[in-house]
Amino acid sequence: MTSDPTTAVRAPGPVSQMTLIRAPFFHTPSSPFSDARALVCHEDGGLLIQHGLIVASGDYTTVRADAPADARTLDWRGGVVLPGLVDTHVHYPQLRIIGGLGRTLLDWLEHVALPEEARMADEIYAAATARAFVKALLSHGTTTAMVFGAHFSFATASLFEAAAAAGLRMASGLVVSDRGLRPELRQSPQEAYRASTDLIRRFHGRARLLYAVTPRFALSTSEAMLEVCQTLVGEHAGLRVQTHINEQPDEIAEVRRLFPWAKDYLHVYERYDLDGARSVMAHNVHVSDAELERMASARTAVAHCPCSNAALGSGIFPLRRHVDAGVPCALGTDIGGGTGFGMLKEGLQAYLMQRVTSEGMRLTPAHLLYLATRAGAEAMGLAGEAGDLRPGRSADFVHIQPPSDHPLAAVLERANSTGDVLAAIVTLAGAESVAEVRVQGDVVYRHPMRVLEGG
Ligand code: GUN
Ligand code: ZN
Repeated sequence: MTSDPTTAVRAPGPVSQMTLIRAPFFHTPSSPFSDARALVCHEDGGLLIQHGLIVASGDYTTVRADAPADARTLDWRGGVVLPGLVDTHVHYPQLRIIGGLGRTLLDWLEHVALPEEARMADEIYAAATARAFVKALLSHGTTTAMVFGAHFSFATASLFEAAAAAGLRMASGLVVSDRGLRPELRQSPQEAYRASTDLIRRFHGRARLLYAVTPRFALSTSEAMLEVCQTLVGEHAGLRVQTHINEQPDEIAEVRRLFPWAKDYLHVYERYDLDGARSVMAHNVHVSDAELERMASARTAVAHCPCSNAALGSGIFPLRRHVDAGVPCALGTDIGGGTGFGMLKEGLQAYLMQRVTSEGMRLTPAHLLYLATRAGAEAMGLAGEAGDLRPGRSADFVHIQPPSDHPLAAVLERANSTGDVLAAIVTLAGAESVAEVRVQGDVVYRHPMRVLEGG
């Protein structure tokens, strides 16, 4: 754990627009997997914000000394500030089926997830789901997310509109599939191309939004559909790609049957240029060494979703093998296969699952914070903008302050070290402890109790 010297960048504009937040803060500007001093803590920290950017961050006294006298000061010393959380894999149409336990992937898809996804054909239902989904992300401290949209264009547009209205930073896209799924969820490659192009034109690069080409998984996409995905990525700069890979053995066996020419699951996506630094592939629980090697050299990122892996019985994620191979990994909730929106809970679950296997890594609170923040920004190609609290980053952060009668408040009262504080937060902080959330300095969520208190 280190306390770095205070640093600052200059931002244009009148000094009166500056806000100075005084609070303990933690962040991981580098990766604890390669840097033992990656966790940076300021027990009495200061964050100076102007025009949505962090312009100075460090110890409060130093930041205060360099800040204009009329900067508006917010005293949050009863709580802790963390970088905004980053969820790299989550499905918006699955909001209302969280908790469908007791099934494995293909059975759960057929009987639980896909019938609900078909309900997104109802425009009003889809729009209401999108608004509730975006609110759930923000109320859990998630400021950036990579989201599977719906199989319907207007329902995916509803999600982009809800995210833009609420101020969420988001990459998402129309889910494209032309086989394997119930007929309502399929579209032809031509339809998928037309609808995706229209959504890209309307939303990609607008406000805090990016478009992600989203083939559901190899099982539900023909080669013609994968070719459409390849074409879209080639036609528009800055698109992201998201999909699923290597989640369960029977899924992998079926992919082998459908793509007999492919040497493994990854090869299907590689053939259509859907891997690489712009791509986030969810799960990768049952991966070969050869695939890991190719993912590392292409810089394909993996969204590790430990709650989903446990709930659907996918298995224990081979984190050590990913880290040793150099594959970028971040965390995702995988709602509705996952069990909730809390990215800190996802970090805790990653810790727990690594703990119960002899090949597991011993993860520290620094690893968990990194996986839930900076690693996600890196995976989404947003490392220059989000993920930590260094000057020059967007002012995306979450103010954690548990209710006074919550166990976390009691634990924090007697915590002896900053390491203990972070460990307690990862273990115990849920939505009840998220006091306020900001994206680019804008308040995008305030806990209802704090609104009532005028806090
Ligand atoms: N593979 C294809 N679709 C899905 C999905 O919705 N959830 C999960 N966990 N895996 C998938
Ligand atoms: Zn998923």
